[in-house]
Amino acid sequence: MANPFKPTAGAEPPHLIGREDALDLFEEGLEDGAGAPGLLSIISGPRGIGKTALLHRAENVALEHGWAPISDTATPGLLERLKHGVEIHLREFGQAESKWHITAVQAASFAVTREMTPAAQVGLRGRMTELTTILRKHGTGLLITVDEIHSVDRAELVQLSATVQHLIREGLPIAFVVAGIPHAVSSLLNDKVATFLRRADPIVLDSVALDAVRDSLRQTFKDSNVSISEEHLATAAEATGGYPFLVQLVGYHVWRLSKVSGVTDQTLTRGIEAARKRLGSMVLDTALADFSDVDRTFLVKMAVDDGPSRMSSIAERMGESIKYVGVYRHRLIDTGIIRPAGRGQVEFTLPHLAEHLRNHAVQLHNPGLGS
Ligand SMILES: Nc1ncnc2c1ncn2[C@@H]1O[C@H](COP(=O)(O)OP(=O)(O)OP(=O)(O)O)[C@@H](O)[C@H]1O
Ligand SMILES: [Mg+2]
Repeated sequence: MANPFKPTAGAEPPHLIGREDALDLFEEGLEDGAGAPGLLSIISGPRGIGKTALLHRAENVALEHGWAPISDTATPGLLERLKHGVEIHLREFGQAESKWHITAVQAASFAVTREMTPAAQVGLRGRMTELTTILRKHGTGLLITVDEIHSVDRAELVQLSATVQHLIREGLPIAFVVAGIPHAVSSLLNDKVATFLRRADPIVLDSVALDAVRDSLRQTFKDSNVSISEEHLATAAEATGGYPFLVQLVGYHVWRLSKVSGVTDQTLTRGIEAARKRLGSMVLDTALADFSDVDRTFLVKMAVDDGPSRMSSIAERMGESIKYVGVYRHRLIDTGIIRPAGRGQVEFTLPHLAEHLRNHAVQLHNPGLGS
């Protein structure tokens, strides 16, 4: 039996834990059709929290409702690739009705890098109108998802937003769901060019409840015939901190060590340890690599505390004024790596980051020293 856990960015987990509310609203939107609130959403949250996984699920839900999904990751050439996707769906409807089969189109797989000419943009709008008009007759519609909105080309996004807005005004059934890290999403929303997106329903992803993690682990172990006690389940759930990437890592490593004779104290402890190590190299280091030296110093000084840090203590440890560190505080909150935690305090959003920073502070300050 293959390991049922999927500790890989973008991979579909055995259960999508705790995203029912967002999905219910989206599903209601699909049923209500054109103009329903759940059909225009912006998903945001820190790395590894499950943005891509939620987008994938939304696509599948759409498909189950007979909607035609096109998914893309924001890189140059977005519009051109979407056009390919629209053409594919139009071809599906060109078939005799008995042969119709709507597929999920991954536009990201089309090798297109050039930008669209203005004439072609008009063409895209026309073809999308055609497609959504056909879909409306069948009580369904078109779903477009764009992941990693931070790397989107603004000009293309403006164009796409204008097209989506046009379709909504015409009462045509279009759903538009995008995802990105909080910083990218807030800068996008503040950008005048994307005012239309401010009307989107914000879906802010956070850690999931430990009870739900435990239930999901119980089910996945049961389905794969690996025994685990309630006590071990509670410990495993606790170790994930409700952070989705860690749920998959803990599940994966505990399962791997326990698949032959079931979960024991020893396989559980070793599995959790292995998961934490991988979290450091697969998630935390990647997240930290995005930051400047001063940002990282701020984080290292924060990591001295177990639990929330006072801004005054961070300033003192950095030997800078509160005003100076306040600028970094603001930037780091924007990126989603820390969050406000009561008056004058901040805390980490990612689990085990403080510990990781404490253990690796020397290398972080002197990257040449190796890892
Ligand atoms: N709701 C969930 N329940 C359980 N596991 C999840 C959930 N959401 C995501 N995962 C798992 O967590 C990991 C990270 O998910 P995903 O790649 O969707 O995160 P992300 O927010 O898109 O991260 P990034 O910002 O790096 O792109 C994957 O292994 C995925 O299977
Ligand atoms: Mg992602």
